[in-house]
Amino acid sequence: MKATAVAPANIAFIKYWGKADEALRTPLNDSFSMNLTGAQTTTTVAFDPSFTSDKVELVGGVFSDEEALRVTRGLERIRQRAGSTLKAMVLTKNTFPKGAGSAASASGFAALTVAGFSALGTTLSEKELTVFARLGSGSACRSIPSGFAVWEKGIDSESSYAYSLYPADYWDIRDILVIVDKRMKKVSTSDGMEQVGTSPKLAARLAAIPGRMTGILEAMKKKDFARFGRILEEDCLDMHAVMQSQVPPIRYWSDATERIMDHVILLRESGVSIYFTIDAGPNVHLICEGKDEARVAQSLASITGIEEIIYNKPAGGAHTITEHLF
Ligand code: PMV
Repeated sequence: MKATAVAPANIAFIKYWGKADEALRTPLNDSFSMNLTGAQTTTTVAFDPSFTSDKVELVGGVFSDEEALRVTRGLERIRQRAGSTLKAMVLTKNTFPKGAGSAASASGFAALTVAGFSALGTTLSEKELTVFARLGSGSACRSIPSGFAVWEKGIDSESSYAYSLYPADYWDIRDILVIVDKRMKKVSTSDGMEQVGTSPKLAARLAAIPGRMTGILEAMKKKDFARFGRILEEDCLDMHAVMQSQVPPIRYWSDATERIMDHVILLRESGVSIYFTIDAGPNVHLICEGKDEARVAQSLASITGIEEIIYNKPAGGAHTITEHLF
């Protein structure tokens, strides 16, 4: 009764900010993302009749009590669905810093969901797995399907799921994740989203998203990168405008964040087709096509304040592997 899963983090090009239902983690809007090869979580889950309580550990770090409780609640949902009462040991390993945007919770809950059900021998459809991952962390549902994923907001829990729109090899999009601060973000996405209704900009954002979704999916179909990039950057700035106009306001950016954004704009003016997007943190994702990656990488050498750069290609979805962490 042991299984191990690997799941990618994902970067949203049309982002999710705000829940329709807090407990079910259903979103106010549809979103669209790409899985990342360079930011992945591996999780081993083992259930055993001799365990008297759940044990949750992170390789090279520690989970806070709150994080450990979220994982235990995830195990509880898995047990309930699988009809088991056995306690579990969970060991998790990330290839990237824990505070890098919301990436760690997305890949973490996707890996936990796939490993947990597999360890109990319960086979679920991909759709159902995305629903269970979503209950742990909203964006985790998009880390289950392969490549480029759409998360439909739906009208209830079952209809709020994610699916793959294109496989990872459909388009050679790169995400150069520029880490300017490895520490955990100050305001968690869960806490931040609770106040979304206080932003006077929320209604305009929700009204704009269906058009943006259509636009970016058309750009994706035609592989029109300039249009694709314009829309994803617009949606990022729009989400941050909502965050910054909430009460109390949340500003996830730092000086270094703004320096990288300025750099992207200058690079674009010099003829490189490059755009940025930022999650709930100060780190910046530079989005370009494979042919431009080397030039972008080279240009970053002169920028101060960069702690680490993670180079990502489009990745497959969450899956089990036969090598266990323990
Ligand atoms: O998965 P959560 O509930 O931590 O929310 C993540 C939200 C953003 O990363 C800010 C945007 C997104 O759609 O990924």
